[in-house]
Amino acid sequence: MTKPLRVTQSVYWVGVNDFSTKLFEGLWDIPEGVSYNSYLIIGSEKIALIDSVGEKFLEEHLNKIEQVINPSRIEYLIINHMEPDHTSAIPKILSVMPKVKVVLTPAAFQILKAFYHIETLETIIVKGDDTVIDLGGKTLRFIQTPFLHWPETMSTYLIEEEVLFSCDLCGSFKHLPEGAIVDTNIENIEQYIYGGVLKGYFAGVFSKYRDHVLKAMEKFKALGLKIKVLAPSHGPVYTIHAKEVMDLWTSWSKPDYTKKVVVAVGSMYGFTFKFVESIVKGIKEAGGEAVILNLVEDSPVKMLEMVIDAPALIIGMPTYEYDLFPPVNYFVNLLGLKKLTDKFVGVFGTFAWAGGGLKRLIDLLNTLGFKYLGGVEVKGSPLLEDLEKAKALAKLIAETAFKEHKL
Ligand SMILES: Cc1cc2nc3c(=O)[nH]c(=O)nc-3n(C[C@H](O)[C@H](O)[C@H](O)COP(=O)(O)O)c2cc1C
Ligand SMILES: [Fe+2]
Ligand SMILES: [Fe+2]
Repeated sequence: MTKPLRVTQSVYWVGVNDFSTKLFEGLWDIPEGVSYNSYLIIGSEKIALIDSVGEKFLEEHLNKIEQVINPSRIEYLIINHMEPDHTSAIPKILSVMPKVKVVLTPAAFQILKAFYHIETLETIIVKGDDTVIDLGGKTLRFIQTPFLHWPETMSTYLIEEEVLFSCDLCGSFKHLPEGAIVDTNIENIEQYIYGGVLKGYFAGVFSKYRDHVLKAMEKFKALGLKIKVLAPSHGPVYTIHAKEVMDLWTSWSKPDYTKKVVVAVGSMYGFTFKFVESIVKGIKEAGGEAVILNLVEDSPVKMLEMVIDAPALIIGMPTYEYDLFPPVNYFVNLLGLKKLTDKFVGVFGTFAWAGGGLKRLIDLLNTLGFKYLGGVEVKGSPLLEDLEKAKALAKLIAETAFKEHKL
């Protein structure tokens, strides 16, 4: 069990590491775990707790709070976001904070009532961006940042120490190392920033709300907030890396397309995979980089992460029960759900008797708004001429996408 950690002069981390959940939100695999960060802010007169944890971690969370202060002294519980990973411990934790006022947006209050049926609560409902709470020498300001990544979300800013508590914004999928949370104390901080766990979290949880990420980033600037410390609700707290991490999230939200084409293949016996080599050649001839996704084996986090900054996609699959191969159906619909459809796309496929799956795939792609450029389908194994066709199609797709986006 990790100990509470001091983050800044008045901020303590009283969160937990989760090593047991296999799929975050029931969807995203987290082989390296995840942390749920909760922070105590200690002013000379009052104490606030920012966000909580899931009910499963109630005891550890409470134990950490008790190592810093007596929880009955907490006067404010600030709820930046209502998702249960940060709130399901709240109904129980409230009983040890008799004088607490809950600070949250109107939309968060509605969800709090719906989730936990807590009616008798003292609240401070935050509207606009000017609500502040003075803890005695430490002032918290609340900023409306909706859809990060639910409608009720807000951010909290500790004025004197220039700390932004951004909740899920800039979170990542990896447990915190023993005894450290601040970037300057984490040895392999580069791994946290560039090893895929930051982008993976963005891809899985935030990719639909890219516009709202940009709006929030612009708002922080417009309000003139200096962000010396970035304290999200998952993963490290960033000091010397705060700007870098916020810039990365901004760039993924635009997105800044690169000369990359994703070749996404679902296959049962490898017939469809026979096309891949030629497709990769076609992409390379157009001057692009080919990234191969195995839609049967790769995780949804990886799928989204790879697709975000690619302006084009080439999708392969067999016909399955006269229809789409299920992993491909899942993948394409996931891209639709996350609004990652602004891409040129081509398809390839194989079948044994009547085919038909590829036509259904093309219909789906067109319905979702992808820019469909062509397909190649064969009965059985592809012949040399089929492979040549696939290569030419891949080259055309890559060239069209790169030209359109001036890459
Ligand atoms: C469970 C199952 C269902 C299939 N359904 C169809 C079908 O409806 N129509 C068809 O023409 N081929 C069908 N096939 C044959 C495959 O589409 C064909 O063998 C294909 O080339 C397999 O490619 P793969 O090795 O890349 O998975 C089916 C195969 C399996 C195993
Ligand atoms: Fe969340
Ligand atoms: Fe979260």
